[in-house]
Amino acid sequence: MSTRKEKLSVIIPTYNERENMALIIPRLHEILAGEGIDHEILVMDDDSPDGTAEAVKELSGTIGEARCIVRKKDRGLSPAVIEGFRRAKGDVYLVMDADLSHPVEAVPAMFHAITRDGADISVGSRHAKGGGIENWPLKRKVISWGAALMARPLTSCSDPMSGFFALRPSVIEGAPLKARGYKILLEILVKGRYDRLVEVPITFRDREVGESKLGSRVIVNYLEHLLALYLHPGSAPFMKFLFVGGTGMLVDLGILTLMLLLLGEGRSEYLVSQSISFAAAVSWNFVWNRFWTFDARSGSAGTQYFRFFIVAIFAFAVRFLLTTLGVDVLGVREQPYYQMLTLGVIVVVTIINYLGSRLWAFRK
Ligand code: GDD
Ligand code: MN
Repeated sequence: MSTRKEKLSVIIPTYNERENMALIIPRLHEILAGEGIDHEILVMDDDSPDGTAEAVKELSGTIGEARCIVRKKDRGLSPAVIEGFRRAKGDVYLVMDADLSHPVEAVPAMFHAITRDGADISVGSRHAKGGGIENWPLKRKVISWGAALMARPLTSCSDPMSGFFALRPSVIEGAPLKARGYKILLEILVKGRYDRLVEVPITFRDREVGESKLGSRVIVNYLEHLLALYLHPGSAPFMKFLFVGGTGMLVDLGILTLMLLLLGEGRSEYLVSQSISFAAAVSWNFVWNRFWTFDARSGSAGTQYFRFFIVAIFAFAVRFLLTTLGVDVLGVREQPYYQMLTLGVIVVVTIINYLGSRLWAFRK
């Protein structure tokens, strides 16, 4: 642990939040000063016509340091947060809404999860044990739940839609963040570099002052954002692995057919054709898995290819062994039991292939 005192940068994106400034900024100062946490407050305002910036200026003289950065280009919630990251000077960045939906009292715990407990990211989570949502209509709860479910394969975080999170600057250094959606945390969880994520349970309270800026456009925008994140190299690797495996099977069949046409259909021709189509499919899978499924282009391609091939041959041997065992020892020959046996064997072999690839061939 470092002995130097670490500093927190609180980033608050705003659009027409004048009245909330007088509520949240003094409260933040009070709580952070009470905990002895060095901090700066950055209000990232999209040139709000209601005088949000002036409100910050008035407050900042009296109590402590709070800066308002007025943005006139590239407006929007995510771009404002990303610019906040660029301007922040602390050792930990924390993002929260202006409207007191995110409890200010949770900020020290989120800061300490990083500085004391060694997390890279901490998330103020409504779905962690002890968290919740106050007075939301059922419809909004259902939409929120469905949205979180669709993001499940992308991250282990239970509340990736949260706009309340803290992180080490190293998490986003060099990450190709796009300010596409409103869900900047999800973008970071998919593209950032981190080992440890901690969830701090919070109760989300609907705003009392001002209006929500996020309307129905948000849903379409979210779906587009999700699609882009699913296609991003390295995200949801198991789904990508299955998809690549499926295309590999087509390559296998196509080349096998071609070879048999070229060579003829004798017993040894079959063996040659099978081997060549197997090798072609493994190579095809290798390329896609290296660049897309696991985004492992930084490792040595030769080593990865060699290992990937070993895993494939090993899995093939397991398949042969298990099938033979089922048929000859257990006597599974009749339909539909033979199909069930084959299906079970394929599942086992797929898992072997996946784990072998992830934990060994493409290990980072
Ligand atoms: N700079 C900037 N530009 N800030 C914006 C913009 C914008 O275009 N739109 C909204 N904000 C600010 C608001 O001023 C507020 O501080 C914060 O972003 C959240 O906006 P709300 O309008 O209060 O959104 P919400 O309450 O519907 O959404 C909240 O809950 C979601 C989870 O359900 C936000 O926390 C989201 O980030 C969160 O995902
Ligand atoms: Mn809100």
